[in-house]
Amino acid sequence: MQTKEKKGNKFLNRRNFLKLGLLTTGSALTASNLINAAEKQGNDSSSGLPVVGAPIQRYVPKKYDHLLSGALDGLSDNQLKAHFALYEGYINKINELEGRIKTFNTNNTDTINYRGWHMEQTSMLNGAVLHELYFGNLRKGEKEPKGVLKKMIDRDFGNIQNFIGHLKLVGKIAHGWSLAALNYRTGKINVYGLERHNLNVPMMVYPVLVLDVYEHAYMIDYGTDRKKYLDVFIANLSWKQVEERLEKALSIPFGNAVTT
Ligand SMILES: [Fe+2]
Repeated sequence: MQTKEKKGNKFLNRRNFLKLGLLTTGSALTASNLINAAEKQGNDSSSGLPVVGAPIQRYVPKKYDHLLSGALDGLSDNQLKAHFALYEGYINKINELEGRIKTFNTNNTDTINYRGWHMEQTSMLNGAVLHELYFGNLRKGEKEPKGVLKKMIDRDFGNIQNFIGHLKLVGKIAHGWSLAALNYRTGKINVYGLERHNLNVPMMVYPVLVLDVYEHAYMIDYGTDRKKYLDVFIANLSWKQVEERLEKALSIPFGNAVTT
């Protein structure tokens, strides 16, 4: 059995990981693995460094085959498979870009390519992360939010219908993404719109609900009818997954101090 002190250290490590790794949209990809690795490894008192577990050397695409074969209402296998392929392309590209950046000679005064790689780095990383969060919150059969998620939505938006209204409206006016996230400055849930993977990305937030509104997400099934797609998304939204993300996010202290 763990001692009280060990439990405390474990908690601090877990919290520090979350602080270090999850406070921007683009860094949620590996946090869970990092936490697991850290908890398996324990504390490293010899190096004086925070325990970071075994770093992930390369991104590996996740598989979402469980969403096929009618698992979702209104999204065909053709649509989903094309979307999976796009996501895997982001994974391949971020691996390539990080390799190029890492081996670049910083004494080289020709930085044209280096600049381009860095601009693409956040686009490809966020593209991968956001798609994982999007596919991860799809599962039909859960009609409404419950627990702390419902309470916070009621507090911050009045009711679930108003919350969904904002989510859909942002999904209608934004070119890339509509997402709901816990804001660590305020402790409230906000809806944000991203024009692109790496444009209008809020800082110090934890995304709990992610909606892809790029045309590629629905064009095969619905042509240009984004309104229909937005209804389909809500019908297939896993509120349980959103609630689990929110509970994870709430384990991190929030308030004015987060930006000191
Ligand atoms: Fe997408």
